[in-house]
Amino acid sequence: MSEHDRVKVSSDPTSSLLITEGWDDYALVDSGGGKKLERFGAYTFIRPEPQALWCSTLAENEWARADGVFTSGAGTEEEKTGRWYFKKELPSRWEMGWNNNEVKFFAAATPFRHLGVFPEHAPHWAWMKKIIIEAHRPVKILNLFGYTGIASLVCAAAGAEVTHVDASKKIIAWARENQKISGLEDRPIRWIEDDAMKFVQREVRRGAKYDGFIIDPPKFGRGPKGEVWNIHENLPRLLTACSALTSPTPLFTILTCYATRISSVSAHYALADMMAGNNGILESGEMALREQSARHLLSTAVFARWSTR
Ligand SMILES: C[S@@+](CC[C@H](N)C(=O)[O-])C[C@H]1O[C@@H](n2cnc3c(N)ncnc32)[C@H](O)[C@@H]1O
Repeated sequence: MSEHDRVKVSSDPTSSLLITEGWDDYALVDSGGGKKLERFGAYTFIRPEPQALWCSTLAENEWARADGVFTSGAGTEEEKTGRWYFKKELPSRWEMGWNNNEVKFFAAATPFRHLGVFPEHAPHWAWMKKIIIEAHRPVKILNLFGYTGIASLVCAAAGAEVTHVDASKKIIAWARENQKISGLEDRPIRWIEDDAMKFVQREVRRGAKYDGFIIDPPKFGRGPKGEVWNIHENLPRLLTACSALTSPTPLFTILTCYATRISSVSAHYALADMMAGNNGILESGEMALREQSARHLLSTAVFARWSTR
């Protein structure tokens, strides 16, 4: 083996598994047969889950107790079409918390099958929190495609100044309510309703700098003015622009992808390009939820993350 090959081999990505164990307010109760049964606070839900290729553990009557079932429509899994069926009347939203209610948020059964929280992100929340606290300096974070703001609230609670960008007015309003019930209204969070790409390009022109990035892009999306987001076409350009926004002393970057055709190896190289020239460690792999029975790990997304340690 030549020296060149050796260098190449030693820098190949190795895959990690980031496992969410569940907490008081969240559990992956069971999975199998193309579905998952989860508990969000006091309520249980069944949703389609193409990764659950195995047989479920619990008996049918246990699944039948679920409070809500989301059934996919005629469209493909990708289109997220379908509808909810509820066994009883559920509140339109209810409170949940993470880490002994350090951050609180509303959960709700949305028409797009999601419930306002992606629990598999919990290990990232704990990781970012530690990095921000241990930095012992002012930290600026940019959260793109920030959804209901849980990651933004975790960063703000740890002492960071956060810029949260999402295209949806409704989702931003939801995130602000989460800030209120978390008791973090006095924290410096800028809530920005904008297209992620446009906002980042504007920030580059303004010479803005950030120490941390959270980038959770959907496969497809639209900005407030109909700007089209397609992860396969737009991600490299977005990350290049983010690279120009990186402060001279960056702390971390997290990229997560739910697009099933993107592997963690690809996410790894995408982030390696963005953080090129900065000394740090790059880690990548799959994000998984552990079943309550501990029988299966359910992989939901891939990630790559960079930090100075
Ligand atoms: C968090 S991402 C989705 C990631 C998610 N884990 C999934 O299942 O794909 C969803 C958020 O991205 C936002 N979004 C979609 N297109 C956008 C765009 N062009 N610019 C900014 N935000 C966008 C949506 O409003 C939504 O709140």
